Amino acid sequence: MIAPSILSADFANLARETAAIEGADWVHVDVMDNHFVPNLTLGLPVVQSLLQATDIPLDCHLMITDPGRWAPPYAEAGAYNVTFHAEATDDPVAVARDIHAAGGKAGLAVKPNTPIEPYLEILRNFDTLLVMSVEPGFGGQSFIAHVLDKARTVRRLVDAGELRLVVEIDGGINMDTIEQSAEAGVDCFVAGSAVYGAADRAATVEALRRKAIG
Ligand code: DX5
Ligand code: ZN
Repeated sequence: MIAPSILSADFANLARETAAIEGADWVHVDVMDNHFVPNLTLGLPVVQSLLQATDIPLDCHLMITDPGRWAPPYAEAGAYNVTFHAEATDDPVAVARDIHAAGGKAGLAVKPNTPIEPYLEILRNFDTLLVMSVEPGFGGQSFIAHVLDKARTVRRLVDAGELRLVVEIDGGINMDTIEQSAEAGVDCFVAGSAVYGAADRAATVEALRRKAIG
């Protein structure tokens, strides 16, 4: 799956920018609060408007403190997948439960230097694991390859039938880095600058998909 990140899109034309990625599997929406990360983007009102503007499922990536309070309303609004950070809460399972109760899929995100081992036991409560391959906060950064070990670990558990979730990667994904991520067992690729920095966004989505399939 390819999930273009609108962080690199024109925020004044989001309806047009989502129409430009026809064929994408998810629209990745980066919510930042200037507390969990040193950047501020958009929130629930923009997501509510986006839901009216596109039929592509929204994959909301919450880079915020207090996800217990803020994550469930995104699911209630109609976001398909609501992902929050493991580092931002003491009780990720409770947050996942509240997202599910609100009708959404729940994702757990981990920063590049956060180990996955402490979370393996609770991953069965999630539909998605988001492995960050850059420090969260900004688009256009370079891919950090060592995070692929986490994707490999979780892929093995999925293949062994011990877990059922989407392994998603976010940060620095482009035509050069998508292949090694696919080989590590990633099934959903977020791409911001690679898609929105291209003249033909839909063609770039297809090119990335072809490269991932190999
Ligand atoms: C970074 C965001 C990413 C960002 C990726 O904090 O979570 O989704 O948009 O941008 P690129 O693909 O340019 O690294
Ligand atoms: Zn993101």
